[in-house]
Amino acid sequence: MSETESRQMHLAVLLHPLGPHPATWRAARSPATAATSFAHYAELVQTAERAKFDFVFFADALALRNLDPAKIRRSPHFINNLEPLTLLGALAPITSHIGLAGTVSTTYVEPYNVARQFASLDHISGGRTAWNVVTSTSVTAPLNFGQPTQAAHADRYRRAREFVEVVTGLWDSWDDDAFVADTENAVYFDPVKCHILDHRGELFTVRGPLNIARPPQGHPVIIQAGGSEAGKILAAETAEVIFTNEKSVQKAREFYSDVKSRLPAFGRSTDELKILPAAHLMVGRTTQEAKKKLAAYNDLLHLDVAREVVEDAMGAIDLSDLPMDQPFPLERLPKSVNGGTTYFAALVDMITNEKPSFGELCQRFASSRVGDVLAGNPVEIADHLEHWFRSGAADGFMFVPLHPEQDLTDFADLVVPELQRRGLFRSKYESDTLRGHLGLKRPTVGQRADVSPFRSAAGEKR
Ligand SMILES: Cc1cc2nc3c(=O)[nH]c(=O)nc-3n(C[C@H](O)[C@H](O)[C@H](O)COP(=O)(O)O)c2cc1C
Repeated sequence: MSETESRQMHLAVLLHPLGPHPATWRAARSPATAATSFAHYAELVQTAERAKFDFVFFADALALRNLDPAKIRRSPHFINNLEPLTLLGALAPITSHIGLAGTVSTTYVEPYNVARQFASLDHISGGRTAWNVVTSTSVTAPLNFGQPTQAAHADRYRRAREFVEVVTGLWDSWDDDAFVADTENAVYFDPVKCHILDHRGELFTVRGPLNIARPPQGHPVIIQAGGSEAGKILAAETAEVIFTNEKSVQKAREFYSDVKSRLPAFGRSTDELKILPAAHLMVGRTTQEAKKKLAAYNDLLHLDVAREVVEDAMGAIDLSDLPMDQPFPLERLPKSVNGGTTYFAALVDMITNEKPSFGELCQRFASSRVGDVLAGNPVEIADHLEHWFRSGAADGFMFVPLHPEQDLTDFADLVVPELQRRGLFRSKYESDTLRGHLGLKRPTVGQRADVSPFRSAAGEKR
């Protein structure tokens, strides 16, 4: 078997407790209160581990989607979720291999806290954690942190870059063998193996060292998910996994080669960053069953909710006056948004290229926020994933089950065995750490600093 033929895909799963689709909670087997039930999350993660996923991922937002609670009362999206790091800490001891990834925004907290939290989680989980670095798209979040408005997109990314520099620097505060714990001579750690970061940057001044030993993975895995130009630069410089939201295989290929081609400029090789497009899929035992399930969820979608998802992606504007049976009037399309440019671009693409009625636009965009959900039988779904994987569009996928229990279980029972039969996915874990599952090297202390643009060519810190 050639190397290309034996290459296997990586699989992650995005777990919104009641589903990312704004209506599946109405069809839930478990009660709507499951969003705050740890047993519910535990069951989902154990299903993903049984299927040998690389990692589970919990997204996060720091505010309700809209200032008016009445406006968003019909959908649980980002309203009643457990805080990701607390949740990951509880999930670690009830799992043994699967990676545990969560979002923490760089816009509203300090790098020292984040470095310490992820280092702790990496110790608790035995080297299975990952941090999804986001800049936060929410226009309501700043109001919870003493800021009247959201900082500009470029400023949020500038802060994110320096933030990651500080966090990774803090993780290198100690050599791996610094804590000698020599009871006989009363030496708990070797001070020579302690490194003071002394970061003095444009936005942060952090002395260090971090007050906890180096994480088992050296650095917990860094994920990035912004698709804008600034997002791609940040990913090429710092990320080891990137989630994307490309709609067609052609666009995904362009994104893949674009981002990978940026890595050498940062002294990195192309396999140091794994690209995982979000896969909005609905599997059934037959194509017809899959389509029926999807249609049943879409039938439950209240039009107010669908419209609100579109309003949100356009910068929380009010579109309640628009007739549902007419095309979206182009003059109402904002020129740009300061929040998430990726979702906005997907919306503009749908409006300008497909010209659906406003009602149809709302229905379709709300079901995945990107494009249409692919419904198929296990062979059709595996064909789709294999095609993207083999044609230079993906290193694997972020599976997004619309209904977390039902659709994750179906994917685990129907699609994963088909991928394993094709030799495209592991049948057992070969490693105990997330870095191991992803085929990522463990950084040595200071290694990144030697090659990364965090230092100038002269070796001086910027
Ligand atoms: C699979 C996936 C997961 C994401 N998870 C989060 C999240 O948990 N929190 C968040 O604020 N943004 C999340 N995002 C959005 C991006 O990380 C990014 O913040 C947003 O797209 C704005 O950046 P951009 O303008 O560069 O696209 C996610 C995006 C994708 C594709």
